[in-house]
Amino acid sequence: MGHCRGLLELVCLVLLGCTFVRGQGETQLEIHMLEEEDVKMDGEEEDSTGAVTNAKVKISCPEKCSCTEEGSVDCNGVSLNEFPEELSEHTRQLSLQNNLITMVTLEHLSHLQQLETLNLQNNHLTTQGLDDEGFHILERLSYLYLANNKLTAAPRQLPASLVSADFAANHLTKIYPETFGQKPALKSVYLHNNKLTDDGLPENMFNGSDNLEIFIMSSNFLRYVPKGLPRALYRLHLKNNKLEKITSGAFDNLFHLRELYLQNNVLSNDGVDNETFSLLNSLEYLDLSNNNLTAVPLGLPRNLILLHLEKNSIQGIGANALTPIRNLEYLLLHNNKLRSRLIHPSAFHGLKRLHTVHMYNNLLERVPRGLPRRAKTLMLLHNIISEIGRNDLITLYTLTELNLSYNHLTSAKLHREAFRKLRLLETLDLSGNRLQTLPMGLPKSLHVLKVKDNQMTEIPEGSLSGMSKLKELNVANNQLKLNSIYQGAWQELSALTTLDLSVNMLSHVPADLPESLEYLHLHNNRISTITATAFLNTPNIRGIFLRFNRLSVHSVSEESFSHLSKLQVLDIGHGNISPNRGQEDEEEDLPYGDDEDTDL
Ligand SMILES: *[C@@H]1O[C@H](CO)[C@@H](O)[C@H](O)[C@H]1NC(C)=O
Ligand SMILES: *[C@@H]1O[C@H](CO)[C@@H](O)[C@H](O)[C@H]1NC(C)=O
Ligand SMILES: *[C@@H]1O[C@H](CO)[C@@H](O)[C@H](O)[C@H]1NC(C)=O
Ligand SMILES: *[C@@H]1O[C@H](CO)[C@@H](O)[C@H](O)[C@H]1NC(C)=O
Repeated sequence: MGHCRGLLELVCLVLLGCTFVRGQGETQLEIHMLEEEDVKMDGEEEDSTGAVTNAKVKISCPEKCSCTEEGSVDCNGVSLNEFPEELSEHTRQLSLQNNLITMVTLEHLSHLQQLETLNLQNNHLTTQGLDDEGFHILERLSYLYLANNKLTAAPRQLPASLVSADFAANHLTKIYPETFGQKPALKSVYLHNNKLTDDGLPENMFNGSDNLEIFIMSSNFLRYVPKGLPRALYRLHLKNNKLEKITSGAFDNLFHLRELYLQNNVLSNDGVDNETFSLLNSLEYLDLSNNNLTAVPLGLPRNLILLHLEKNSIQGIGANALTPIRNLEYLLLHNNKLRSRLIHPSAFHGLKRLHTVHMYNNLLERVPRGLPRRAKTLMLLHNIISEIGRNDLITLYTLTELNLSYNHLTSAKLHREAFRKLRLLETLDLSGNRLQTLPMGLPKSLHVLKVKDNQMTEIPEGSLSGMSKLKELNVANNQLKLNSIYQGAWQELSALTTLDLSVNMLSHVPADLPESLEYLHLHNNRISTITATAFLNTPNIRGIFLRFNRLSVHSVSEESFSHLSKLQVLDIGHGNISPNRGQEDEEEDLPYGDDEDTDL
């Protein structure tokens, strides 16, 4: 339960793609000042022309900055070119971020023995401008923020009191043994967005810093995982490096590691073996996406909850690669080269918590056999699935969302009983296939059904019957005509609020629309008239979209819409025949014919 928050973040990462790197946001020092106090201070400073007689102010405060009696000095973003002089020796928190400071010398720091927090983020500091011994003498310094400067080498020695250090977004190529070594209190180090290579790191960069919990080393040029990582580590970011291989034992002591980010490297199956990850007993989140894997690695840690394997070249899943991961909930395998026949039928056996499986953008030719029985969300879009047999979906009792869009399904090869066990399915997407008719036997539990971008010429008798929960139906971009939709198709859909029939071949507004309907999309059809009774049964309608039809001012009855008190959008728009050119266009249009008029 204690992991709940972490998990939420993980989910957020998967679903929303939000960033997880905390370096700068987290470390931003916030100092709240009372404005009144600012004013007073400024005034008193002006009074004390020359002589140091401002006895009332215990702490002298640099111009443009604000200070508190507790020892906070805030000079955030006040265009300082130089490190402020005359700081009180009682200063404990010094905020100098977002200035133009180029140099920090031993003299600047030598009297600041009480300093606990020094924020120099986003200045113009270079390694030459940073006195190497400066920081070392600050024996109470806990928080050092130097992100967004121009440092090329880290300071040789930082104080042993250090708790957190942020050097992100510099040009670092060099770290020294005592930059981060011999720091028993050190908990977090941020080094992302630098230019570090393996040669730029000392042999054992955290030697004597056994309590490090967070180490962020993304976006550098490492080819190997740094050696001797402290065993307290629980979050390790190594994404965007050049890792090809993880030497055996690299993660062996990391029993507390919960999150490991290895995406955007060039790891291949040869570069990891079945023991690389196997001892990471606390690992819940592993990201191996965008690497060079051709198979799911063996020996993945058994307590994983979320596994990213997308954007590799994985072709298959063996019988034993995933099955030991009993707690797995999210499995992301999209953008690989998966083929159904290379996925072992027992590949998901016993994964009772696995509820979300993304396999889109692969080379699946069928729905893989043996999919996890508790799956809730199954993303199979953008594959080459051409057939769904009677029993292909038979074990998926708990599925609520199935996305099969943009495959190669035809009506002939979609078994009419294929969906019979999906009694909880709420969302089904069959868009972008080659269906000629709306499938029979779709689950009655559906809330959302999308079958747009197919070749449907027919909605056959009964195919929508009993779907009393359906809220949204999209059959846009097909070849539907009014007489090829069975009579009463819409009437039963008593929960339907959105009906998209755009880009079809309808000649009239469909009759018998359900009373619940709120949005009706009919653009790009062949509708030439709207009768006074067209919307008589849809008092709740809010939006009607009729662009690109064959309407003229004379063919739309004014009474059609007058009783629709909730109507907000009536889009007849361009593409219909404009009133002043009506006659000509109408004549021009005639040859193309309203081939349905005869049908009706
Ligand atoms: C680690 O630190 C100890 C001193 O605490 C030292 O004796 C040892 O040589 C260091 N090891 C490395 C690899 O730097
Ligand atoms: C890794 O594979 C080797 C040989 O295939 C085997 O002996 C060893 O037990 C495996 N280790 C794990 C953790 O599965
Ligand atoms: C990916 O792996 C293949 C062989 O497994 C190799 O030929 C290729 O060079 C690798 N790509 C990179 C970028 O390392
Ligand atoms: C199916 O997936 C595609 C791509 O993510 C998405 O645009 C579409 O809305 C999904 N279908 C449903 C019904 O959610």
